[in-house]
Amino acid sequence: MSLISFNLEKCTACGICSMVCPINVIIPDKEGFPCFPAEHEAFCTCCGHCEAICPTNSITANYQAFPPEGDTSDIGQIRPDILAKYVQSRRTIRAFKDKTIEKEKIEAIFEAVRFAPSGMNAQPVKWLVVTEAADIKKFAKLTIDWMRMMAEKGADHPLKHYFPVLVTLADTGLDPICRNAPGLVYAYSENAFGYTDSIIALTTFDLVAPSFGLGTCWAGLLHRAAMEYQPLKEALGIPEGFILQFPMIFGYPKYKYRKIPGRKQADIIWK
Ligand SMILES: Cc1cc2nc3c(=O)[nH]c(=O)nc-3n(C[C@H](O)[C@H](O)[C@H](O)COP(=O)(O)O)c2cc1C
Repeated sequence: MSLISFNLEKCTACGICSMVCPINVIIPDKEGFPCFPAEHEAFCTCCGHCEAICPTNSITANYQAFPPEGDTSDIGQIRPDILAKYVQSRRTIRAFKDKTIEKEKIEAIFEAVRFAPSGMNAQPVKWLVVTEAADIKKFAKLTIDWMRMMAEKGADHPLKHYFPVLVTLADTGLDPICRNAPGLVYAYSENAFGYTDSIIALTTFDLVAPSFGLGTCWAGLLHRAAMEYQPLKEALGIPEGFILQFPMIFGYPKYKYRKIPGRKQADIIWK
């Protein structure tokens, strides 16, 4: 069966499916009706746009892996000022309540995250989700072990300036790496091409989490260690051959931010 089928009795030859197709695998015939030549199959990204946009519901995408998942009729318009304020109010959270994160909430966040865009609709992002506080503490400790080792051997490293101070903080019983967070997500993928897609997916996670009352913090220090320190990489347990892309800690914020801090104006060249 072809990847895409058309009901030409319902089709009005409006041409929209062809116009929205990422690489124009659908082409109009002489009368303007859509055609999907067999030799185009290999280039179809299975994005589902043709079926999702057809005004007469005359297209069926037959790719089994991604059937349509609902209609858009009940989606209202979000007021732009409210959305802007929601985005401005999202804060990096570094102090968390000692409260378990419900699995259903994490699953609900991923119901949005899995719709994040990806290059060629490849959807390459995979996830490690950790909700055992003891495991997260272990990752933080291994990061400090790595920093201590780097500081002791005087390694020349872009973060060398921070190693002694972070190690000292950890020695006083604080967790400057994972902030005693009850949750951690780590995006990973099969190859380096998954990097941008992982960051977009994590950004989506970052934006959606507060709507569930959860706060997040990108965990750059942990990532740096995970890329360079084998014991941490092993503790994370990503399957062999996969690439760690980026981690984020999350949990219920302990404190509430009362103001939106200042930020630079957007630096734009208008042409
Ligand atoms: C790529 C990236 C890595 C980060 N790594 C850390 C980190 O390791 N530890 C931390 O406390 N904050 C980390 N942050 C959070 C930033 O410090 C924070 O986004 C910035 O100070 C602005 O604050 P805001 O997110 O509340 O606007 C990271 C943020 C990004 C985007």
